[in-house]
Amino acid sequence: MKGVILAGGLGTRLYPLTYATNKHLLPVYNKPMIYYPVQTLVNAGIKEILIVVSGPHSGHFINVLKNGKELGIKHLEYAYQEKANGGIADALALAKDFADKQPITVILGDNTTDADISDGVNKFKDGALVFLKKVVDPYRFGVARFDPINEGKIVEIIEKPKNPPSDFAVTGLYIYDQQVFEFIRGCDPNYIGRGELEITQVNNFYINKQMLRWAKLNGHWLDAGTFDTLLAANQYWAKKLINIKKI
Ligand code: G1P
Repeated sequence: MKGVILAGGLGTRLYPLTYATNKHLLPVYNKPMIYYPVQTLVNAGIKEILIVVSGPHSGHFINVLKNGKELGIKHLEYAYQEKANGGIADALALAKDFADKQPITVILGDNTTDADISDGVNKFKDGALVFLKKVVDPYRFGVARFDPINEGKIVEIIEKPKNPPSDFAVTGLYIYDQQVFEFIRGCDPNYIGRGELEITQVNNFYINKQMLRWAKLNGHWLDAGTFDTLLAANQYWAKKLINIKKI
């Protein structure tokens, strides 16, 4: 399986930190943020990776990641998203040739997790697989609405719901078959009114086709797109890595 890391965007929620560099290169304890999603993929055996970048600091990624060898990547490609605020699905559209009709594991560059996703990766056949995590603040995320009768079935994903239908956030880890590129073409930039092509709309297309499965993300998970979550990610990883050093 190949992997795609989406590391575009302007990181406006982190201004003024992101005036100087891209959000995904900011420190999370002792590493640039993007090292964490790279590690998640490499640990799951995914060593052919495409990183989608955008914005004024796109060139910084090469300084940091180089050809990826130091991080265990065998083949690293970069793609440049022209519209930095085009959204996650717009960035993912650039992975079509790289995917070459094969399934891809996608991770958002600001998502850090210590979960092992290799089971989902190895067993994936077709459709889409999303990873869910129970959170205390679901209104910040895409949230799963479950079938009241068949509770294991997601009937809809709602992006940033005011009244969340569950506590299960859709994390920024997804596995898609090649249909994803067709679904992206059907996305509406006004889907939730922020002018972006939303990955949640893509996931809902899969739900409508009865082709979306889900798994619980077994591990700690944080996105780091705001000051508070960036601090929380730093604290979590500092504590974890300092404890590991002590052992
Ligand atoms: C994005 C997705 C959302 C998902 C989240 C995970 O949110 O749109 O569905 O739950 O990533 O980090 P955004 O960071 O664009 O607000």
